Amino acid sequence: MDLRSVASVAHVERAKVLAMRGLFNYQPFQLSDGFYCGAGLSIVQGFRADPPTVYCPSLDPGISEYAASALVKPAEADQFLHTNEMLAAFYDSVIGQITTLTGGVAGLSVLDVGCNAGYFPVSFSRAGAVQSVGYDRVDYAETLDLLNEICGTRAEFKVWDYNGELKASEQHDLVLSVAVLVHLSEPLRHLAWLGSAAKTALFVLTPCHKDDDLSIRFHTVNRYYQNMFPNCFDVTTLSRKLLYLAFEQMGFSRVVELSTEPMSPHWQDTHLALLGIR
Ligand SMILES: C[S@@+](CC[C@H](N)C(=O)[O-])C[C@H]1O[C@@H](n2cnc3c(N)ncnc32)[C@H](O)[C@@H]1O
Repeated sequence: MDLRSVASVAHVERAKVLAMRGLFNYQPFQLSDGFYCGAGLSIVQGFRADPPTVYCPSLDPGISEYAASALVKPAEADQFLHTNEMLAAFYDSVIGQITTLTGGVAGLSVLDVGCNAGYFPVSFSRAGAVQSVGYDRVDYAETLDLLNEICGTRAEFKVWDYNGELKASEQHDLVLSVAVLVHLSEPLRHLAWLGSAAKTALFVLTPCHKDDDLSIRFHTVNRYYQNMFPNCFDVTTLSRKLLYLAFEQMGFSRVVELSTEPMSPHWQDTHLALLGIR
């Protein structure tokens, strides 16, 4: 999200502090020519490589261990900027496709589960959603506060850790789950929860395998998710057939596969983006 024309110098200073606390890391936000964060490099280098997520030449990598690993080195800067622009273009394309297919989000209530720093809640609030809420197990409240201030939006945030329930206690018109099932040991339970929360539409983006069966695969353990078994996986994949079946079983009469352009051909081949509409 390119916020260079609306972020002040004071906003950028606050963003730098949040970034050094790990609260601006994964999603692509550009607040100035000298501040850009995002996990774009992990798309080309791989998540196991742990590439840096914050481009900010004015910050000293010597200030902390985190800064040393998170700050982009000059030699990587061009690739960092390019891959995060691609990630931002992908997010914006998904938001545009959902908006078109649902007939517009003005007046809708939106919930993004596993929202991270709030790219989707802020974007849907900007697009006119009457309520736009993000849940995440990590407390990104200060990041959303800052983004709301910059964008003039009213996205809400709640710290929330999925506890295995099958049914949600509240419903929203549109529910999103972007790159979250990948971490869960029981993705079908979580899908059922998401489906029960979605009054009209559910969007799920997740890595999928293409075997012609109904299967779930657990690939690697996330090295950061300590003492969280069984919710500790970094790459849990569903077969495409299983994800389609799940949408059908949850009662979505129309299921549309969204374009994952402009991500790399390999990434597109290994991910599925489905929008179910009741
Ligand atoms: C790979 S990131 C994706 C973030 C965001 N949805 C996106 O695609 O830009 C996964 C996010 O889900 C959150 N998350 C993972 N497991 C969760 C759980 N069990 N309950 C709540 N949030 C969770 C993580 O904290 C993280 O912010």
